[in-house]
This record gives sequence, C-alpha cells and structure tokens, in this order.
Amino acid sequence: MGINIQSDVSLKKYNTFGIEEIATNFIEITDPIQLLSAYETGIFKEEFLTLGGGSNILFTKPYSGYIIKINNKGIQAKIVQQDIFITACAGEIWNDLVCYCINNNYNGLENMALIPGTVGASPVQNIGAYGTELMNIFYSCIAFDTVAGIFKVFYNEDCQFSYRDSIFKSEYKGRYIITEVTYKLSSSPSINTSYGAISTELEKRQISNPTIRDIAEVVSYIRVEKLPDPSTVGNAGSFFKNPVISIDKYKELKELFPDLISYTMPENKIKLAAGWLIEQCGWKGKVIGQAGVWKNQALVLINIHAAKGTEIFELSSKIINDVYQKFNVKLEREVNIF
Ligand code: EPU
Repeated sequence: MGINIQSDVSLKKYNTFGIEEIATNFIEITDPIQLLSAYETGIFKEEFLTLGGGSNILFTKPYSGYIIKINNKGIQAKIVQQDIFITACAGEIWNDLVCYCINNNYNGLENMALIPGTVGASPVQNIGAYGTELMNIFYSCIAFDTVAGIFKVFYNEDCQFSYRDSIFKSEYKGRYIITEVTYKLSSSPSINTSYGAISTELEKRQISNPTIRDIAEVVSYIRVEKLPDPSTVGNAGSFFKNPVISIDKYKELKELFPDLISYTMPENKIKLAAGWLIEQCGWKGKVIGQAGVWKNQALVLINIHAAKGTEIFELSSKIINDVYQKFNVKLEREVNIF
C-alpha cells in the first residue's frame, strides 16, 4: 500500500492549540503497512514528526520535514477467563475507546474519560487522570522502528513507565511509531473513587454504588468544569508537569508556604501541584497578547485567538521564571515544543 505525500498543509486542525503553521510534507497513515513504504522511500532518514491527535504539542514555527499523521482505525476485544484484552489501532480517538469499554462493561478506562488525543499517544506520555494511569492497564503495543524498518512488540515492563513518562519519550524519543495498543482490562467490577473530587461529586449525586458509567460521567463533568474544551478554546491540557522534589526540599517549602499542595510518591519523593504554584504567582486567568492562563486551572495555557506558538511559549517561560523565583522549583513543560 503506497503513501500520498501532500505539500504545504496547514496544521491548524491537527493541533488542539489551533496554531496556524504549515508543514512542508504531510502523510496520512491509514494502514501500518504504509510505514514500510515510507521507510523504503527514505522518509525516515529526513526530519519527521509523528502526530496523533495533536493534543500535546505546540508548534512555534513552520515544520519543514514530514508530518506522519497516524489514522488507522479499529478496536477488537479478546476474552481470556477473567481478563479482557482490548486491541485498538493507534489512530482511534482515546475517548471513543473509553466509550466502547463502558458500553461493553469492561473496567479500567473510566477514570481517564475525555482525555483528548489518540490511542497511539496514550503510552508515550503514560496519560493519567483522576486516580489512574495508563501503565495500570497497558499490556503491550506494536511499534514501527523507523531506524531498522521493522515492527516490534513492547510489553508493559519494556516501556519504563513513570509519571507522564515512558521509553518513547526518553531513550527512544522519535524513533518508534506506535501502530496499535493492547490494554488488559477486567470484567469483574473494580471501581476507583480514590480521587477526592470524584467521591465528592458522587455524594452530591447521591450515588453510593457507582457503575463504571457513573465514574466516566462524573469524571467528564469535572473535566468540563475545570478544563477548556479545545474545540472552542485552543489548549493542550496541562502545559507543565507537576514537579517532583525531594522530601528535604518539600519540608523547607512547607515551612515557608504552609498551604503547599503535595502528593507522596515512591522513593521518598513529593509531587507538588504546579497549578497551585502558578496561581500563587498571580498567573491564573492572566492574558498576554493572544496567549493566556486558563481561569479555572492555572496549569493550562490557552490560545485566546489566533495566537502564534511563540506567544504561548514566551508566556510559559515567564511562568517558569516566576515559579522559580518564588519557590525555587523548576517547572518542566509537559507539552512537546516544535
Ligand atoms: N490547583 C490550584 N490552582 C490551580 C489549579 C490547581 O490551587 O489553578 C490545586 C487544586 O485545587 C488541587 C491541586 O492543585 O488541590 C491539583 O489540581 P487538579 O486536581 O486539577 O490536578 P492537577 O495536578 O493540576 C493533574 C493532571 C491532569 C489531570 C488531573 C486530574 C498533570 C500535569 N496534570 O492535574 O492531566 O486531569 O491531575 O487527575 O499531571 C493533562 O495531563 O493534560 C491533564 C489535564
């Protein structure tokens, strides 16, 4: 199956920030076999960028290489005793997969309802929300090695998952193109209401025995309340990672800022709520030119209207600087910058 290379394509509808930049070359992949054609044509020896839903990316300049847009579709379920193995093509919309699982009563994805993006991107940054991370349900994925020109299987333990991180973001950054992902779910009920906002909302709705559909609805409700909808306000979710610091540094900060919001992590580390740090620096709801900080969640930067990627990037640099000055904590961008 061949490939069709389009020239000078606008990226506006391919990134949830809605940034207008042009890609010199653009290839849509609807069948993984096309990656072999792309390999044989020598495209992977040039500059290239794999794009899923474009929900974790900020374009700051025209892209002069090849954009590889992954758009293969399909979801299959295989039941092995108590376990359900769901295999989804990388181009599937993540939330469509969540809905599929809820409709079939398969547990495990409901706390991650409404996360923007595609299935193929889900392992790359180990997506997570409301008490669950992808690594808890990820079984394996198939990925195309753009250096060797072969497909390879990665199991959970191969992926080096940690908070918002995996081998696909570190050692193998840019090398592999994920073409399908298999999740291991369960049909026996196991509901996770550990996240405070979920239990509060369930109580309000007087739901004491929630189903996975209830959880997905509550999570979707909380997200819509807090996070801007990319179809109306350009954004890429959390722009920064929550910083992870040592316990000693945490103790020093807690003395100075008793209201500091934190979570305990493995290996004596502490994760701070970056949204709180940013809000304390006075940035919540602020706008500079066409770039802004979301009024309900300071971790999210927004495109007010026709912002240049550089405006959003400069705003993020100012925020990093202010948080560093006030708290001596260095925020890292979660969003990929190009
Ligand atoms: N907070 C503030 N001010 C703000 C924002 C947050 O004080 O402007 C406080 C909140 O009141 C809360 C704490 O910070 O006490 C944490 O806030 P929230 O529950 O909104 O979660 P978060 O840590 O800011 C993370 C993820 C989100 C995910 C939520 C819920 C990261 C970088 N972000 O945000 O993921 O939806 O938890 O689980 O880990 C994303 O990655 O794009 C994303 C949206």
